[in-house]
Amino acid sequence: MADKFDVKLVEEAKYYSPPPEYREKAYVRDYEKTYQAFLKDPEKFWDGIARELHWFAPWKKVLDWNYPYAKWFVDGKLNITYNCLDRHVYNHRKNKVAFIWRGENGEERIYTYHKLYQETMRFANGLKRLGVGKGDRVCIYMPMIPEQMVAMLACARIGAVHSVVFGGFGATALNYRINDAEAKVVITADIAFRRGKTIPLKTLVEEAIINAPTVERVVVLRRKEPKVEIHSGIEIDFYDLMEGVEPICPPEVMDAEDPLYVLYTSGSTGAPKGVIHTCGGYMVGTYYTQKAVFDLKEDDIYWCTADVGWVTGHSYILYGPLAAGATIFFGEVVPDFPDAGAFWKLVQEVGITIFYTAPTAIRMFMKMGEQWPNKYNLSSLRILGSVGEPLNPEAFEWYYRVIGKSKIPIVDTWWQTETGMQMITTFVGEKMRPGFAGKGIPGVIPDVVDKHGKPVKPNTLGFLVIRNPWPAMLRTVLKNDERYRKYWETIPDCYSAGDLAVKGKDGYIMILGRADDIIIVSGHNIGTAEVESALVSHQSVAEAAVIGKPDPMKGNLIKAFVILKLGQTPSEKMTHDLTYHVRMTIGPIAMPSEIEYVDKLPKTRSGKIMRRVLKAKELGMDLGDISTLEE
Ligand code: PRX
Repeated sequence: MADKFDVKLVEEAKYYSPPPEYREKAYVRDYEKTYQAFLKDPEKFWDGIARELHWFAPWKKVLDWNYPYAKWFVDGKLNITYNCLDRHVYNHRKNKVAFIWRGENGEERIYTYHKLYQETMRFANGLKRLGVGKGDRVCIYMPMIPEQMVAMLACARIGAVHSVVFGGFGATALNYRINDAEAKVVITADIAFRRGKTIPLKTLVEEAIINAPTVERVVVLRRKEPKVEIHSGIEIDFYDLMEGVEPICPPEVMDAEDPLYVLYTSGSTGAPKGVIHTCGGYMVGTYYTQKAVFDLKEDDIYWCTADVGWVTGHSYILYGPLAAGATIFFGEVVPDFPDAGAFWKLVQEVGITIFYTAPTAIRMFMKMGEQWPNKYNLSSLRILGSVGEPLNPEAFEWYYRVIGKSKIPIVDTWWQTETGMQMITTFVGEKMRPGFAGKGIPGVIPDVVDKHGKPVKPNTLGFLVIRNPWPAMLRTVLKNDERYRKYWETIPDCYSAGDLAVKGKDGYIMILGRADDIIIVSGHNIGTAEVESALVSHQSVAEAAVIGKPDPMKGNLIKAFVILKLGQTPSEKMTHDLTYHVRMTIGPIAMPSEIEYVDKLPKTRSGKIMRRVLKAKELGMDLGDISTLEE
């Protein structure tokens, strides 16, 4: 089947070369040489990078690989916040700006490294007051504001495991995540701002903790004036918690393999998976890629437009940039409010030098028109990035020409919640190939293979895999180690990413999308199973099946096929009710754009819904090709 795959692009290789000074001044000047050095001695390669960071005690061994379980920097002791804060405060970065934050109304807050260090320690001591200690889970459900970063860092400071839940999730999704992680404390805010409206986060938390027996306290950041009432007993004000505490909180000494956080991602079947990342390897992986991929320099102002609630925010708004001593920009802002120039205005005003966003945003910018970016001076920019879904050639060309003025490198970075760090890209000094993310980052050996793990021929469709362990890889799935093993057991001898890909003769890899039942909508990873179970939890629904339908703007839309219970009839109102029900259960990102009522669903003998058949019918095409790739 694979030979049938035909993408014209694969044949007509087209490249763009960045101006030579990028390579001359790059952190990684010679990609090939660096990659070869890694291949020659992978452990020496990672050892050298880890030594750039501060450890309380050195590791005895770089890697202990007991397939499929890895231990990195064995017996090394550290605290990631020591590397993100103390290390800078004790050197020339003490008064350097750690981040500049903007609110939707133009409000600006600036934190130096010293201020962030102090706030983190005070909040950490506040958490200790609540009885939170090493290994306890803390759920953070907050808007994109400085206190969200402080809360995450404070957990890491005392060895508590944070579980950040994206502020766009609804009460049921939040409840599941709180219970699965057995969170002791939830940290939230009364409201979030979005496009001039407010979102009542605290109200959603109140609903989410009704059936959450492990939750002892809720910390509330009160933003609204007059301040909302706090229910004494369970709730406590964010800043009251920091009142009167010791100003110093020594970093907890963590083992390299102690968990740093849990973050939920969609499962291809069943419930969301709590991906576990550890302290040592994750720190080394995100620190290295932050410097190597974004070629971070001391005076850069770096903006990653993702939400902290996703892995991109964890790795490349918080931990990677802070470990590397960057000045970060972030905000509670959206690209099209108050108008379609919002982001470009910020680039001009703040003087952003590195801009990292998602293809869905780029396609939206394309639609809104060049006049918006053209109104602003974008000359501060020197590197552009993309993540989350395939950056299609048209979007690449637009980004390159309109935003990059045809002279700025674009790093299209492929990675996943599970990988923790960027894995495939094109380094800033290398020639770029539109549609292709690039090659393995030094430290990573990607390949495109058939289901037996055998490499497919160049320019043919296959599964994307990683052939070696890497420091920031997930170590397990919370309470589901079997699911973890599956990543390494689906295709022999490698980590199976779940994506379809093509490798060109030049070794560049194009990622085409998911091979499983995960739908990427506007860069958000949504499991068909989660939407289906939300639909079935509605009193009128007997059965449901959900598929992704390609969409030029969002990448995919969600389409649901629904069998109603006897006595229920399809209607516009029913469609509205079901859509609203999904919105309230999971959140706006998971709402179906279309619902079709059917009498039966195609199923395998064992009763598994064949979404592939629904999809083929929907798209009016024969997807039989792909079936040989599926299990
Ligand atoms: O399908 C791939 C797509 O996003 C998936 C991972 O989603 P998530 O865990 O939410 O992490 C997103 C941010 C790292 C991948 O399996 N994906 C991510 N980056 C790219 C991509 N697809 C194509 N090109 C990319 N650069």
